[in-house]
Amino acid sequence: MRRHDPRPAPPASRPDAADWLLFEDVLAGLRSTPKRLSPAYLYDRRGSQLFDAICEQPEYYLTRTETAILARHAPEMAACIGERALLLEPGSGSSRKTRLLLDALPDLAAYVPVDISRSHLLEAARAVQAAYPRLEVLPVCADFTQGIMLPSPRRRPFRVVVFFPGSTLGNFDAPEAVRLLERMRRTAGAGGGLLVGVDLVKDPAILEQAYNDAAGVTAAFNMNLLARLNRELAADFALGCFRHEAVWVPSESRIEMHLVSVCAQAVHIAGERVEFALGERLVTEHCHKYTGQSIATQGRAAGWAALRSWTDPRGYFSVHYLETV
Ligand code: AVI
Repeated sequence: MRRHDPRPAPPASRPDAADWLLFEDVLAGLRSTPKRLSPAYLYDRRGSQLFDAICEQPEYYLTRTETAILARHAPEMAACIGERALLLEPGSGSSRKTRLLLDALPDLAAYVPVDISRSHLLEAARAVQAAYPRLEVLPVCADFTQGIMLPSPRRRPFRVVVFFPGSTLGNFDAPEAVRLLERMRRTAGAGGGLLVGVDLVKDPAILEQAYNDAAGVTAAFNMNLLARLNRELAADFALGCFRHEAVWVPSESRIEMHLVSVCAQAVHIAGERVEFALGERLVTEHCHKYTGQSIATQGRAAGWAALRSWTDPRGYFSVHYLETV
């Protein structure tokens, strides 16, 4: 909390759940074939800092490109969202991009940022509230993949619109992505809207560079997962015995992030032994890339109809507006 800010933090409805690693889940992932861990585990405090640094890397075009699309087309997006909407943002983080929309939506009923990290959420909500004093900001501390209880704003909203930027949808495999979109549709209710940003399929060299930046920030982000397991689950991963790899898998239309074992080795985690063969991969994240068609198809499977989209001049990234069918 900033010492000189007299403004009270808006209330958050749940306690912080950010820094939890689930031992059973981690162990099950390390015992599966291929070995796999939830990408959610990449985002402890250090991981979140490293992700912010990734967004600044010259090769990682996603954040810059989406921001430019929002800056250029926010008035048209606001026209789709309409009057007196409740804007709900799952995984809101610092709410930085949201401001581009908020500037174009002076009549919002409320802004509801949702994040699993209570401290991050409250800090961001306070900053938004300070910048938009007339806006009702109602932060909700929750894991958005588990569903969200909507708070009641003072002014009754005409509709609920979910804002899901950043290509975060791409970090879910197709069945989970559809389930998540279905959940968002149920939360938005009849007449609800969804504004979602997704990264597009493009030259594989550009995609692979974005996840293998020259400064090694993405590699550090990936390796931090092992450091986290060592710290929080008493594991003994030797960080020098793994290397970061991010590869384009065309058949799945995704970048896969792996940690590759550079030797045959055994690792212990809270007393349990896990073996890695030479060259064996631990899958840490999938980053799916879309086409206009594939996001519309996925949306439709979840009960959303794709109505409009915006892209950048290079066609690298796109933002889509969908409404409940
Ligand atoms: C958060 N998410 C959209 C990022 C992505 O591009 O899929 C996560 C990331 N992983 C490595 N670099 C960025």
